[in-house]
Amino acid sequence: MEKLFEPVKLGSAELKNRIVFAPTSLGERGTDFYREIAEGGTGLIILPDVAVQPSMLGAPSLDSEKFFPYFREILEICRKEGCEAAPQLFFQEYDLAYVGGLFRQRMSLGGDEVRRRMAENVDGYCDSLTTEQAEEIIALFAEAAVNAQAAGFRIVQIHGDRLLGSFSSALFNHRTDRFRERTAFPAQVVRAVKQAAPGLAVDYKLTVRTEDPALGRGGALIGEVPEFVRALEEAGADSFHVAVANHSNLRDTIPSAAHPLLQGEGCFRRLGEAVLACSTKPVCLVGKIQHRDYAEELLQQGFGLVGLSRQLIADPRWPEKVQQGREDQIRYCIYCNRKCVGSIMKNQPVGCILREETEEK
Ligand SMILES: Cc1cc2nc3c(=O)[nH]c(=O)nc-3n(C[C@H](O)[C@H](O)[C@H](O)COP(=O)(O)O)c2cc1C
Repeated sequence: MEKLFEPVKLGSAELKNRIVFAPTSLGERGTDFYREIAEGGTGLIILPDVAVQPSMLGAPSLDSEKFFPYFREILEICRKEGCEAAPQLFFQEYDLAYVGGLFRQRMSLGGDEVRRRMAENVDGYCDSLTTEQAEEIIALFAEAAVNAQAAGFRIVQIHGDRLLGSFSSALFNHRTDRFRERTAFPAQVVRAVKQAAPGLAVDYKLTVRTEDPALGRGGALIGEVPEFVRALEEAGADSFHVAVANHSNLRDTIPSAAHPLLQGEGCFRRLGEAVLACSTKPVCLVGKIQHRDYAEELLQQGFGLVGLSRQLIADPRWPEKVQQGREDQIRYCIYCNRKCVGSIMKNQPVGCILREETEEK
């Protein structure tokens, strides 16, 4: 029995199918793009990097009601098509004021020096927070969840990369207080969100890394996955979204076709399988997923959902074409990263070279 277009429940929320638009910063508000994705048949859109504190560059955040009109517009666009949207709640992994200052001085400092100082700040930031500051950040997640519910969302994704990825990783967390237990901070965030907004389904982006070979930097080591899954489920996580996190370096996070280790469809499958083996909740796998048969194979194996980012940028109508048996008409992503990742690096809106080449004007 085919599963791709079967409904699935995340906590109390129901999705019409198993296809997720993985969190993808678009370099703009993206309203028209989300419309295309929703009309194309996707079941859930994760809205990328929604800050729990006021955001620096005016990107939509959920620290207040300020962006409710924007979020409600997105929800209306999505629900018209039977699609859900969920904000990806995050806190940055560096000192925002310090890094903001670096960017303002980038002409005099030079790009390499800005990157070096930023990496240094990321390395030390998790350890530099006092216990009280860490608790205040947890409270910000809870407030943002209340705001998310008030804005009309039924699901939030907790971004297990960024600051939570630092707290989770032995590469960044050398703390001596109770948050030295690397599951403690992420689990407390999930618990606080659940307590503050019990009606919300909580999806957790669990970033997994490996040491041999070295892949990713933030998040749990593959061998630590059972401990993380247990702690996060106990705290109230309703589902998991498995990927790689690299903190300011997108090489392993969004691997191109040329990546020496992450070749081929389902490039994070081994990491996802580690989560699947111990989770009692639906698990969504991302990473170069693009063929119907492959997606279906993952679902038959036990994954609850499949997440697509670049494939849906290349062709937002992927779900509809798959469902109608028009796979020969799909514009298949070639993972060149030129106009999607490339545009983000230049602070420009995300595009796709395939769409530019083939789209009818
Ligand atoms: C342009 C672009 C922006 C992204 N922005 C985010 C983001 O804001 N948050 C996040 O968690 N992941 C982000 N990702 C990572 C994707 O969610 C996904 O994990 C990754 O691209 C692998 O999936 P894919 O092979 O289907 O593209 C981004 C990916 C792309 C291509």
